[in-house]
Amino acid sequence: MNQKLVLSCVTKIFNSEDGEMKSLEEISLNINQNEFLCIIGPSGCGKTTLLRLIAGLDFPSSGKIILDGEEIRSPSPERGMIFQDFSLFPWRTVLRNVEFGLEILGIERKREVAEEYLNLVGLNRFKNRYPYELSGGMKQRVAIARALAVNPAILLMDEPFGSLDAQTRNMLQDEILRIWGKTKKTVVFVTHSVDEALYLADRVVVMSINPGRIKKIIDVNMERPRERTDLKITEKRNEILDILSVELKKMTDR
Ligand SMILES: Nc1ncnc2c1ncn2[C@@H]1O[C@H](COP(=O)(O)OP(=O)(O)O)[C@@H](O)[C@H]1O
Ligand SMILES: [Mg+2]
Repeated sequence: MNQKLVLSCVTKIFNSEDGEMKSLEEISLNINQNEFLCIIGPSGCGKTTLLRLIAGLDFPSSGKIILDGEEIRSPSPERGMIFQDFSLFPWRTVLRNVEFGLEILGIERKREVAEEYLNLVGLNRFKNRYPYELSGGMKQRVAIARALAVNPAILLMDEPFGSLDAQTRNMLQDEILRIWGKTKKTVVFVTHSVDEALYLADRVVVMSINPGRIKKIIDVNMERPRERTDLKITEKRNEILDILSVELKKMTDR
């Protein structure tokens, strides 16, 4: 099955008291099945808006988002979203958090499936704990297991490791690559970190602000596992940082 995700001239305008605000302008992008795509750009350039549109939580003002030949019009278990703040249910145990989506979908053997995914993220031992008993990295692993348990084709991740310390972050980057290699998902991953994007992505979409547009798409085209200090990464990092510094200047000049 061709799970190609096509964004065609997607524009999103919000109406506020100060008038119209163009959050995204004419975003056109083809995302391939099994691709690991990272999106980077200054705060406010519309990254979260874009993920919400792909998730079907909101709609473009104009343009279309098409998955498998069909326009996305509502949320679907086909597209799982993972947020920076983990958003676990504090009153549910780890296991019951992972079971949540399975319950909603009325999937039988939910316990078995949930345990399978807790094993995948290495947390089965902690299945009876509550979120408050876990570290940030563990909470994000639970969120990943919960999103994966319903077997989405596309995983949408909004700065998922942004609040974690550097060491935990590096570990989870390796973990998400391992899971991606094993489960063959399409991943759209928003990050603030150029290094993170270059460590993970097949392609990096660099966005500009006011309005939010695609400024450049960088083909990373490197074997994994990657060396974080690889010279090729350094070159690409400089290229992206140059683009971003122009964008940041735009923001401070306003
Ligand atoms: N529901 C909304 N109503 C009005 N404005 C919004 C809404 N959601 C986002 N925006 C505006 O759209 C722009 C992009 O926001 P967002 O997608 O959150 O950016 P990013 O995730 O890149 O930081 C911001 O200026 C933000 O204030
Ligand atoms: Mg955001």
